Amino acid sequence: MSVIDEIKQRLDIVDVVSDYVTLQKAGRNFKALCPFHTEKTASFFIFPERQSWHCFGSCGMGGDIFSFMMKKESINFSEALGLLANRAGVTLVTRQKERAEDREAERLYQVNEAAARYYHYLLLNAKPAELARRYLSERGISKETIDSFELGFSPDSWDALRQHLISRGYKGDELMAAGLVVEKDGEASYDMFRNRLMIPIRNGKGSVAGFGARALALDGSTPKYLNSPQTAVFDKSGILYGIDRARGAIREQGLAIVVEGYMDVLIAHQYGMANVVASMGTSLTEKQMGIIKRLTKNLVLALDADAAGDEATLRGLQVARQAFSERISASERDLMGGISKLRGSLKIIHLPRGKDPDEVIRENPQHWQIMVDGATSLMDYFFEAVTSKLDLGKDEGKADAAEQLLPLISEIADSVERELYLNKLAHLLGVGEKTLSWRAAQLRPTMRERATRKVSLPSAQTIRHPLEERYLSLLLQHPELRHRGKELPPDCFEGTENRELFIALLDSPDEESLRQSLDVSLWEHLDLLMGRALPPANNRELETAFSDCTRRLGEQRLRRLKTLEETLFSEAQSQGNEEEVQALLQKALEPNIELRNLLLEGKNARKGA
Ligand code: UTP
Ligand code: MN
Repeated sequence: MSVIDEIKQRLDIVDVVSDYVTLQKAGRNFKALCPFHTEKTASFFIFPERQSWHCFGSCGMGGDIFSFMMKKESINFSEALGLLANRAGVTLVTRQKERAEDREAERLYQVNEAAARYYHYLLLNAKPAELARRYLSERGISKETIDSFELGFSPDSWDALRQHLISRGYKGDELMAAGLVVEKDGEASYDMFRNRLMIPIRNGKGSVAGFGARALALDGSTPKYLNSPQTAVFDKSGILYGIDRARGAIREQGLAIVVEGYMDVLIAHQYGMANVVASMGTSLTEKQMGIIKRLTKNLVLALDADAAGDEATLRGLQVARQAFSERISASERDLMGGISKLRGSLKIIHLPRGKDPDEVIRENPQHWQIMVDGATSLMDYFFEAVTSKLDLGKDEGKADAAEQLLPLISEIADSVERELYLNKLAHLLGVGEKTLSWRAAQLRPTMRERATRKVSLPSAQTIRHPLEERYLSLLLQHPELRHRGKELPPDCFEGTENRELFIALLDSPDEESLRQSLDVSLWEHLDLLMGRALPPANNRELETAFSDCTRRLGEQRLRRLKTLEETLFSEAQSQGNEEEVQALLQKALEPNIELRNLLLEGKNARKGA
């Protein structure tokens, strides 16, 4: 739970507001003279059930506990958060800790970047790097690629990097923490990477998190690649090599291609295939899958011919499949409003034996493209992998095939597709479909089982205000729409995070300044909205989606106000408070007219479209 939610759960808006104004009970609600403008009759109301407030008088303001504090104390969101956290007994240690951790992380990125620059400089200029330069040219890596990926060379020395970085003001501790220098008895002892081709590994934001380092000559005595150890900023299983440069292309093309090696990514990008990233040798982890899933639902995996069909690979694919082909749940409705037509798709490229993508691409880029286009669907791949090892002419082989494939088939969510593969299997085994269907039905996981087995994404959040979030994602991911945000009053946003983000967004020229102006407690939410996949849309579709969102948010706000008023109205009536009934009747007319106009507008817009 976010600190914001925790505070809201612990504090009652009635308590907080009553510190500032004298509240009178009004049925289930409370009223007072509005603290934000001068008035003689009370039109400021608190709604405990919604934990919100609204002034039906001339100021017309409203919001939640946070916006009340901000207005009343004339403070910004961070300050209100601090005050309320204090009152709620929610310590913001996580926030302070986060800040400290951020500072430490920032420092590690800086050391890594300084190291990358040093290695890169040596690769381009140092005499001993001659071998590395020749190696790269033999492997067809261009000067542009070397520069844009900032490839480098680590000299054959025990302390060249350490000396260099210390002279630049970095501390031994920092070098150890970044994994650049090996520790011995708590002291910085010697350089981790020596006489290797250096490949900086950047995180999604483009900061150097660690290194992959390739031996220049393979004599079998050292590993081919030496990678940075796990550090505060580097977790190999949670990073995809190349993601910083591939992110945009993956979103645009609606497809991510995952290969295994650094070299494969370098060459793919060099040949203009910018949606390629590497899992760095292991099978795709859940974290890596999570990164991709936020960009696209379509994934193609290039599998090494040797790995194809082996147990570990198949198991890895099972995990991938659960994360990917899971039906898109209601909370992930596509951002154009309807239920998504984008079902996840996970396909496999069979590489020719003994060949890496890097060789295939260099030999013939068209050939690679054909392999991508013709990638095998995961289920077909499972069929091939399982049946190629069995003798289907024998009863034993048939039984084995059924035993291995049926559980996989039974997990297919789509009934038509499931039927299709059952037929395929029945045909392969020469048995009746009925027998198989019956068996498959027995194996089919129940809804509950499926739910508990669901692969969870890092930082997956429950979406409480889908329309608000859809609107913000559009605004964030399409800066050209930014200025249109002014069309909406901020109290259209009921979610505290959403409202704060919206307000900050209107004042920020770009993403970086937006982030800086936001309280850190909102960063995660920002990332979530920035990363949420939008279906590809042309300008007109985008325009329609956006104005639709805008209109519906406006409607929602007015409906909300109407409901609040109706509550007040019926309560005043039931208590026979004639004066208040009359006052409310007067005010109630306004949003009514506004709402009618908005609804009419929407109707016309739909007719026109
Ligand atoms: P590869 O052996 O296919 O490496 O391992 P590569 O990148 O294609 O390099 P070349 O073409 O042989 O020069 C695939 C990936 O597995 C990880 C690396 O991320 C590598 O890119 N790996 C491999 C290691 O981490 N350590 C190793 O010793 C070997
Ligand atoms: Mn290779």
